[in-house]
Amino acid sequence: MGEQKVPRHVAVIMDGNGRWAKKAGLNRIFGHKAGTRAVKDTVEICGEIGIKYLTLYAFSTENWSRPSDEVSSLMSLLVEQIIKETPNLDKNNVALKAIGDLSSFPENVADKLNQAIRFTSKNTGLTLTLALSYSSRWEIMEAVRKIAKKAAAGEIKPEDIGEKFLEQYLTTFGMPDPELIIRTSGEQRLSNFLLWQAAYSEFYFTPVLWPDFRKKDFLDAIEEYRNRERRFGKTSEQIGQKS
Ligand code: IPE
Ligand code: IPE
Ligand code: MG
Repeated sequence: MGEQKVPRHVAVIMDGNGRWAKKAGLNRIFGHKAGTRAVKDTVEICGEIGIKYLTLYAFSTENWSRPSDEVSSLMSLLVEQIIKETPNLDKNNVALKAIGDLSSFPENVADKLNQAIRFTSKNTGLTLTLALSYSSRWEIMEAVRKIAKKAAAGEIKPEDIGEKFLEQYLTTFGMPDPELIIRTSGEQRLSNFLLWQAAYSEFYFTPVLWPDFRKKDFLDAIEEYRNRERRFGKTSEQIGQKS
């Protein structure tokens, strides 16, 4: 796969774990556990085809209002996976990051996560960002609050605030915007994910439930993205490929 045709940043809304479990007659948490295989596959395929940034929506601000046993099982699963997978991530040159309100997490979860982030911070391959206790409106509100403080202190003037300026205050600062956003399980909405960053993203929706999502499904999404690029391509080279 030609490197220049691979998106730099793919973001995924991993959805359908609960429905997967229900279909199998299991508790929802088994759906979340089964979803870890899909995370592994997705991280691997991104490395294999040279994607630089993968952002996974793992837990939204709104997800805190799920039943408490589901929330606590998700927290345990997260810690377990971080401990288990960090050596593999490191071996594969993956740098782990997180965006979201980490201060809302139990201390042990935040600690393990921060350790893993530090441990992999020098890696130069894929940047794997987990969106945890993330919501886009929260992110934008936080940015606005920080900017307002600076303005109130007289450090900046209103006319200093442009797109690039505001982006410095978003949690995704330093990353390119996602060219492609994938959502599994047939739902077709953003659910408060990367509202600002998705301004020009292509969307790919698949009925596949997240625990069933495999490398082939990811490659299907990339293929669809590439076809769209060919149809609406910006360079003559891309248009030329169509005939
Ligand atoms: C996505 O699967 C995982 C999280 C939001 C944590 P869901 O748990 O939302 O699965 P469905 O939508 O109920 O099937
Ligand atoms: C979005 O999924 C959040 C994550 C995938 C982490 P939800 O299942 O929580 O979204 P809604 O409630 O269906 O919009
Ligand atoms: Mg869901």
